[in-house]
Amino acid sequence: MRYIGNKTRLLGFITSAIDRLGIPCGAAHDAFAGTSAVGRALKERGWRVASSDLMTYSYVFQRAYVVAQREPSIAELRAADPDLRGALRSPRFRARAAARSGSSLDIAAEYLEHWLDVQPGFFATHFAGDRMYFTPENAQRVDAVRTTLHRWHDAGLIGDDAFYLLLAALIEGADRVANTAGVYAAYIKSWQPNALKPLRLAPVHPMKGAPGSSAHRGDAVEVARTLGAVDLLYIDPPYNSRQYPGYYHVPELIARGWSDTVPTLRGKTGLLPADGQRSAWCSARRVRQALRELLDATGARHVLVSYNSEGLLPEAVLKETLREASIDGRVVCFRKTYRRYRADSDRDGRRYRADGLRELLVYARLRS
Ligand SMILES: C[S@@+](CC[C@H](N)C(=O)[O-])C[C@H]1O[C@@H](n2cnc3c(N)ncnc32)[C@H](O)[C@@H]1O
Repeated sequence: MRYIGNKTRLLGFITSAIDRLGIPCGAAHDAFAGTSAVGRALKERGWRVASSDLMTYSYVFQRAYVVAQREPSIAELRAADPDLRGALRSPRFRARAAARSGSSLDIAAEYLEHWLDVQPGFFATHFAGDRMYFTPENAQRVDAVRTTLHRWHDAGLIGDDAFYLLLAALIEGADRVANTAGVYAAYIKSWQPNALKPLRLAPVHPMKGAPGSSAHRGDAVEVARTLGAVDLLYIDPPYNSRQYPGYYHVPELIARGWSDTVPTLRGKTGLLPADGQRSAWCSARRVRQALRELLDATGARHVLVSYNSEGLLPEAVLKETLREASIDGRVVCFRKTYRRYRADSDRDGRRYRADGLRELLVYARLRS
């Protein structure tokens, strides 16, 4: 999904740094998991991954992409819903599902996309209409899919893996048709081409990995404390003052659902009630102390920090903090420079200048 700080494009940079440092594959804590891109790449390379983040949508991605080990069985889904059993008897339905891949997840996706009755519910009331985040059709489909997944899961008709894989597909599918410029801090006041497309679900097929991976919704320091000894702590915190809850409240709402507890939304954009997801890492005053606390709480042998050269914590302070925590007073820094273009000013006829931004990876050894 479109996500501030998503490391999908930097996975090669991160994994080759791990290789160059000679850190042997073992147990890793991805403490700021976001989209789970890094945890997923580590799982693919044989690591046992514990991942964590403050946000519920991240927990959904962690469950789907890091923890889930198996494709749900067709029998499991067949048992879920008499209506789905009915759909499976239709040759048209079977042909459409087969055109996807015929897997149980694609059967479920086909059913949720095309065969559910849709009607306006909580989500469409708040995020279609005046708040132009979604077209009414797509918002009503989000309502229907989220409510159905809740019903199936709550009644024990589908297992956790199927639930989180399909819910992750819903959050990602909704993001593709959201009428935003990438974050949910504002909607656009005219329909963008992507928003006019119908909602599509593309569930990811789970990858088998080392047993024992886990997902956590919580503060990095608290989770690190409960995990105890791990081989690698990967830290990819926010690097500026933008708090994630205000930028991603819509995926957060879809992740939490509204069947059990209906939240009271506030403001022009329909924000969720504040509930302790604000982060010390977004404060210039508190970020160094937050890093120290995390280095103190972790039982990791190696630590690798992703950071940005324009971050709240100056590069020298970041390195110094890691050096203080290391066993040998050494830090290793990898850099990747990329260009960002920005307008010199709003009034000068859109002249753009290129900035050299650096993505940093800073390493220290914490234990032998
Ligand atoms: C730069 S993003 C991580 C991106 C992620 N590596 C990816 O590839 O998608 C930073 C993440 O830190 C999370 N976060 C902020 N403060 C946190 C805290 N105190 N503990 C755990 N997670 C936190 C945010 O919710 C956000 O998902």
